[in-house]
Amino acid sequence: MSDTTLSTLTARRVWDSRGNPTVEVEATLADGSRGRAMAPAGASRGTREAIDLRDGGSRLGGMDVQNAVSNVNRLIAQELTGLDASQQADIDSRLIALDATPYKSSLGGNAMVATSMAVLHATAASMGKPLWRHIADLSGQTPTLPLPEIQIFGGGAHAGRRVDVQDFMVMVPGAASFDEVLEVTSEIYRSAGARMKKKSGNVGVADEGGWWPVFDSNEEALETLVRAIEDTGEKPGERVVISLDIAASEFGSKGRYRLALEDRELDRDEMISLLGRWIDDYPIASIEDPLAEDDPEGVIAFTREYGDRVQIIGDDYLVTNADLVHQAADQGACNAVLIKVNQSGTISESLACLAAAREHGYRGIVSARSGETEDVTICHLAVGLDAGQLKVGSITRSERMAKWNECLRINDQLGGDAYVGGKPLQNTWWARQQKENTQ
Ligand code: PGA
Ligand code: ZN
Repeated sequence: MSDTTLSTLTARRVWDSRGNPTVEVEATLADGSRGRAMAPAGASRGTREAIDLRDGGSRLGGMDVQNAVSNVNRLIAQELTGLDASQQADIDSRLIALDATPYKSSLGGNAMVATSMAVLHATAASMGKPLWRHIADLSGQTPTLPLPEIQIFGGGAHAGRRVDVQDFMVMVPGAASFDEVLEVTSEIYRSAGARMKKKSGNVGVADEGGWWPVFDSNEEALETLVRAIEDTGEKPGERVVISLDIAASEFGSKGRYRLALEDRELDRDEMISLLGRWIDDYPIASIEDPLAEDDPEGVIAFTREYGDRVQIIGDDYLVTNADLVHQAADQGACNAVLIKVNQSGTISESLACLAAAREHGYRGIVSARSGETEDVTICHLAVGLDAGQLKVGSITRSERMAKWNECLRINDQLGGDAYVGGKPLQNTWWARQQKENTQ
């Protein structure tokens, strides 16, 4: 008999892909079901996202999480044990009330997100369902396998700021299956690596597994990416398109943008023109955080100008916050939102953000962080919520591959035609071009 009463919650310190401590939580239910989850950690963080509780001091660079672990083992366990774990909204609202700060700085976003996800896992286990199925049932969505966004070159805060732009990625909206996306992307990754080796002799990778960027300008990275796509026999813009995360808050503020690599500073209009020229000259179908989070004027102007051609994603700009999505929709800023569970701090708030996005016709992209673990909860969220897109970094390093490989397993469980293909890009130039080509 299933009994979803939460009987124990325990946390331990584990380690993430950057070798930093993070929080893992295990939840046990009265019927013996168990769930486990780990908190990821960002490096290029929005100022309005949930704050990870770190111990500070000189040990481990101040990054230890003993206080967050102890918050789970004492305060959170005391508050939540005995409750019905299947009532995710109730569990999450109690976490929020117990924390009682705007950015989860008291309990810690890391303590809260690991707890919220562990409880979700335990309930799915109790019901004997795969997590994606449980999430689909909770949200009333039809599960689908998302279109991946995969990093080829890292940059920004994930690569010692060796280039200003943070992610140079590809999407393969023209592939027939999830598996084919990975195969095409792996070939592109190889070609890009061969080009980097030829150029600089030795090659390395950035935090999310993309090649270390040795370029003289941001645009050289774009050009190299186009060449790498061509090397594989693909015509850029047909099956394969480019996606960028500018992460502009990392180098821009108050309408001024400092491109360190190119030793120049742009004002808002110049930054918009630069990105516009890239959109004209390269097969870019998606751009994340094109302007800084403190530059709504810029984001609105950019969306007005290019929102009918490319997907414009708010990450630092919207921080997985439903209220900010409503506000952005009122103002005409962005047309898509990145969903990072640890930005919001709980499963329920992430679900609310995606619901807000849907209300306004905004697309949703479930995303990992640059600091990750083998935790694959987000794959199940992307599938169960029918989010449409998934971004987890590159196609190397096991904290990334754990996610892509989990999607392949889910693909087999789902069977048939659950893969969304190029549909999430339907309002972009890519889809219009596809249509013309088939007419
Ligand atoms: P972060 O970067 O996890 O370091 O914040 C990921 C992103 O900006 O999308
Ligand atoms: Zn981002």
